[in-house]
Amino acid sequence: MIALITGITGQDGSYLAEQLLAKGYTVHGTVRRSSVINTSRIDHLISEYDNDKKLILHYSDLLDPGSVSNLVNKIQPDEVYNLAAQSHVAVSFENPIFTSQIGTLGSISLLEAIRNNDKEIKFYQASSSEMYGGAIEKSLNEQSKFDPKSPYAVSKLFAHEITKVYRESYDIFAVNGLLFNHESSRRGETFVTRKITKAVGRIKYGIQNKLTLGNLEASRDWGFAGDYTHAMWKMMQYKTPEDWVIATGETHTVKEFLEKAFTYVDLDWNDYVQSSEDYFRPNEVNYLLGDPEKAKKLLKWKPEKSFDELVEDMVDHDLLEAEKELTLLKDGLIKPTWENPNI
Ligand code: NAP
Ligand code: GDD
Repeated sequence: MIALITGITGQDGSYLAEQLLAKGYTVHGTVRRSSVINTSRIDHLISEYDNDKKLILHYSDLLDPGSVSNLVNKIQPDEVYNLAAQSHVAVSFENPIFTSQIGTLGSISLLEAIRNNDKEIKFYQASSSEMYGGAIEKSLNEQSKFDPKSPYAVSKLFAHEITKVYRESYDIFAVNGLLFNHESSRRGETFVTRKITKAVGRIKYGIQNKLTLGNLEASRDWGFAGDYTHAMWKMMQYKTPEDWVIATGETHTVKEFLEKAFTYVDLDWNDYVQSSEDYFRPNEVNYLLGDPEKAKKLLKWKPEKSFDELVEDMVDHDLLEAEKELTLLKDGLIKPTWENPNI
């Protein structure tokens, strides 16, 4: 089996690549050219799989439809996983056009490439619970109404709907994974969970002394990224192409995450955390809770890692990172920053 993953350098791309390679797939991934090498999440895979050409990276940007089409033509994949996005909701208010272009141009370029090359190629679109936005239902499933509240969510909604259009119009096996928030030690450092666990590590080692966040009352259905990428693969093996909600069925506030993470290292978060309007978004999504019953029943999927295990794993990882950082600081190899300027 041959898979193409756009966004392989991201959190999900790295877990999905790892899982597909372990299943014997040949994995192709797109990498954006940048002035620094940005493959840190997949470096362990490159050293293991690069030599026998099981993992092959290509320079491609989703804003360049020609490069996307050439790639599909050249690789002739069995499965395409479209994970690439400007995935930060707050940043999408700052860069709305860029964010929208990736969501819209990216998905339709890939679908067009599949339609023109080989309609047997299966397609996965990384849809998002953020599309539900201001929905008033307590628990959200595949039938719930969308109410996007950010440029990011609107662009994801376009990709979601165009995926359905290509499925229905051209009989392409095109699926949407409506994934609720999923985290890990590979999570980008400006998402709230990682921002917290990184700060916990640094505070414990005396490198940082405060943490500034935004809306502490926001509630999210947080799962483990590795469990969710496994669900992506399962959707692609199901007999028919459908839309699937992937979630834990539990929701926790940012405050609850703080409580769990700081208590784990015997600290009281109230002593370190402040809330600032600077980190609030122009339009907040206050509450998200998913209902994964369909995936549980038909895909035989369930989240394996609990909320507590997820928080503890992330804190454990960031304690080690902070310890390494402290050594570098003591050796004078890096300069101290009391708090990373985060979004
Ligand atoms: P991520 O860590 O931010 O990774 C995004 C990936 O997209 C990175 O590899 C990034 O490359 C790449 N990318 C960005 N702009 C691109 C462009 N113009 N052309 C090509 N590649 C580009 O996101 P993630 O957490 O892994 O999420 C994966 C996907 O699932 C995203 O589409 C996200 O919106 C969606 N999603 C995520 C969650 C979640 O909770 N994690 C939930 C629902 C949906 P660089 O490494 O060069 O930046
Ligand atoms: N990032 C961030 N930084 N969020 C904060 C902060 C802060 O300092 N303080 C409070 N929050 C709140 C946000 O306002 C939001 O309500 C919640 O914490 C989660 O924020 P993020 O971790 O940035 O994630 P998100 O829910 O906005 O978006 C993530 O999940 C979506 C799925 O629902 C991203 O991964 C999206 O790409 C994904 O689609």
